Amino acid sequence: MALIALAADKGAPGVTTAAVALGAVWPRPVLVAECDQAGGDLVYRLPAAAEGDGRGGTLNPSRGLLSLAATARRGLRPDQIAEHCQRLVGGLDVLVGITNAEQAQAMTWLWGPLGRAFAGLAPVDVIADCGRLGAGTPLIELMREADLVVLLTRATLEQVAHLRERVAALTEELRGGPPVGVLVLADPRDFRGSIAEVDRIIARNRGQAPDPAQGPPQPGVSVLGGLALDPKGAELLSGRWGGRLDRSLLIRSAREVAADLTGRLPAVPDAPREPAAPDVPPARVPAGEEGRR
Ligand SMILES: Nc1ncnc2c1ncn2[C@@H]1O[C@H](COP(=O)(O)OP(=O)(O)OP(=O)(O)O)[C@@H](O)[C@H]1O
Ligand SMILES: [Mg+2]
Repeated sequence: MALIALAADKGAPGVTTAAVALGAVWPRPVLVAECDQAGGDLVYRLPAAAEGDGRGGTLNPSRGLLSLAATARRGLRPDQIAEHCQRLVGGLDVLVGITNAEQAQAMTWLWGPLGRAFAGLAPVDVIADCGRLGAGTPLIELMREADLVVLLTRATLEQVAHLRERVAALTEELRGGPPVGVLVLADPRDFRGSIAEVDRIIARNRGQAPDPAQGPPQPGVSVLGGLALDPKGAELLSGRWGGRLDRSLLIRSAREVAADLTGRLPAVPDAPREPAAPDVPPARVPAGEEGRR
């Protein structure tokens, strides 16, 4: 189904946390795929669901992107992905990423075919954690296949200024490709102000005179919404999942963002279009003691 590429420019604004939070409350079947070239973090953060022996455990670092890449040399089909995925406590399916940045150098060929396979994975949406984007990133090949590229930023002048440069370069590289939107990580008490401020800074790109040599102008980059800056929620989400997670500001804001993003995506055939009501606990966020390690 839909592929959503989540990334940042500089800093570590919380892309992995956002990918997991959105995956946990996503109102349609979903897979969170760690495509960060710098290496994945899920293996160190999140408990795997219990296997046949009834005991939960740790995620297996060698089952994921690495094992998928090893089998995909001669082409990659969507139906090859499932056997390389693992399930977290709470039921979220993940494709764990590479373990270190060196491995990424041998995998630059993978991103295009992987993006196409993700986009063809029915009826599952894929949220791809693309990590930090540098200039000339090979992940652009995956992003071209996405339905939506979401760039995450904290609402600091420093991060937004860098993001603005990245947005300009990225929209050029993705010309004719998916729309690019910005998600702002901010204190929920000042969502409106932070979002308006980020929008104002990003909008300076939109105000630039079009360059005739570059073809038709790219549709403007929009600010999609806000995700709560919530250290407690982020901590709960990174391993020590507990009962209060469901009510955390982070998960509550993720639910709103997930509903908004899925509203922008192609509908799932024969699936209810409406996202889960906000007061219905999402199935993938463990409630109470069962989520604890
Ligand atoms: N919404 C949030 N509110 C508060 N703290 C957060 C939030 N998201 C992430 N953090 C914290 O910020 C740090 C980095 O988070 P995370 O690993 O998700 O960032 P990242 O952008 O994926 O970083 P990297 O580029 O290193 O992979 C962690 O300590 C995490 O707990
Ligand atoms: Mg990360």
